[in-house]
Amino acid sequence: MLSSVAFAPAAQAATPARIAPDHQKRAPIIDALEFYSTTRTIPFSTPGHKQGAGLDSGLRKLLGSQFGAADIWLNTADHDRTVRLAEDLAARTWGAERSFFLVNGSSSGNQAFLLANVAPGDEVIVGRDLHQSFLAALILTGARPVYVAPRLHPSLQVGLGVTAQDIVSALDAHPAAKLVALTSPTYWGVASNLGEIVAAARGRDVTVYVDEAWGPHLGFHPCLPPSAMASGVDGAVTSPHKLLTGLSQAALLNIRGPRVDAARVAGAVKLTQTTSPLMPVLASLDGCRRQMALDGRRLLERTIQLAEEARRALRRLPGIDVLDASSLGIPAEQYDPTRLVIDFQGLGLTGYVAERLLREQFQIAPEMSDRAGIVCLVTVGDTPDSIQRLVRAVASLPRCAMPQRAAICPRVTGEAIAPGEQAMTPREAYFAPSRAVSLALAVGEVAAEAVIPYPPGIPVLTPGEVISAVKVDCLREGIAAGMHVRGAADTTLQTVRVVRTS
Ligand SMILES: Cc1ncc(COP(=O)(O)O)c(C=O)c1O
Repeated sequence: MLSSVAFAPAAQAATPARIAPDHQKRAPIIDALEFYSTTRTIPFSTPGHKQGAGLDSGLRKLLGSQFGAADIWLNTADHDRTVRLAEDLAARTWGAERSFFLVNGSSSGNQAFLLANVAPGDEVIVGRDLHQSFLAALILTGARPVYVAPRLHPSLQVGLGVTAQDIVSALDAHPAAKLVALTSPTYWGVASNLGEIVAAARGRDVTVYVDEAWGPHLGFHPCLPPSAMASGVDGAVTSPHKLLTGLSQAALLNIRGPRVDAARVAGAVKLTQTTSPLMPVLASLDGCRRQMALDGRRLLERTIQLAEEARRALRRLPGIDVLDASSLGIPAEQYDPTRLVIDFQGLGLTGYVAERLLREQFQIAPEMSDRAGIVCLVTVGDTPDSIQRLVRAVASLPRCAMPQRAAICPRVTGEAIAPGEQAMTPREAYFAPSRAVSLALAVGEVAAEAVIPYPPGIPVLTPGEVISAVKVDCLREGIAAGMHVRGAADTTLQTVRVVRTS
């Protein structure tokens, strides 16, 4: 009874089939939470902090009383109906037939999509710049990856995406492949030409899926690369929490038929989500959708302008470079101009040192740093003031920097990231007994773990691959030159985990 009163706004909203354009002004989840709070409903349900009343006082002060008040549990049926209404509005906004709200990030979308669309042993053509959550999806499903390595920029350690020709060659060699799965855009803002890739896969009736975690904003402005859904893919996951206004963990899985079965995806989404979502995370997806549906183009216009102003101002500083499509040698429509990849090598600073100085002395927090520079994200949340502070801080760096030798990035070669012989599926390698061996002695062994140098964030080793001398040499030289790796249990790479054969 309580919940049907509390959910009057959602219950009265249109069913998905009857959503009128001006329903985009509504936000079913936010409306439901507001209704709950204005009726002063007393919860005898989870979460136990009871609308913030029981929270640690320091945390309550930090979050404000409203945040706890909005963390409430709706009756299950009303919850499902309200979220479904909000998802249908999101589907229209992101150009999908069906959208699913995710509270476990794009990571869970990668897993849900693969669980719904492939079976153990199925071949999947995968861009090798895959995120670890996609590797987890390969382990969960037992699919057999056919990796396609992205091209690497010859001097900058940046992956340039995969081409339609790469995909055609992989499909020719693996005509039974069920799925093509790509990451686009990359962390560094480089998008693949998805339209051409979709056209190549369509001819063979192969499903195309895109990990678009770094592209939730793409569909909202013509100066950005075309979005995955606009390019005709069958499914894409995207993270509004990364570059729009979702709270952390808020992501969307977008799909369309006929190759993808919505009911099966819905089941897989349930398998990969918590059953106790933080309502503010779901509400943030609802609010983000309303902003984008009503005002997305203007917000992105302003964001792109701010990023371009920053790029111009930073480039005027001696010793500083900022990447763009022409420095990467790619078409403008394949680069996201809101990404500021700032190169400090001309100053003789590593990105690591620059990041520390920016944080400690200027209260500027980049997204990440590597030896060559830093990555800064410009989003709809930025203002002329935030941009000026970034530029002023970078301009001040040389004066406060410690003397340092020029930062030479350890090189990862195209040969090192090329797919090796796949002796086992990632799942078989993951569940096989393994042991640590000295990297120098690992040639010919089967990798039990991924080894991913940053940059370029593309694995040299993936689980189940035979380890070649070229890969070992690249990793040994890289580590000696200060390469940073993820994925391996021993990130110093004194040892690497391999499958135990006897
Ligand atoms: C390409 C890619 N896919 C997926 C993810 C995971 O996204 P989330 O943090 O939303 O789970 C990331 C995270 O950085 C990513 O870089």
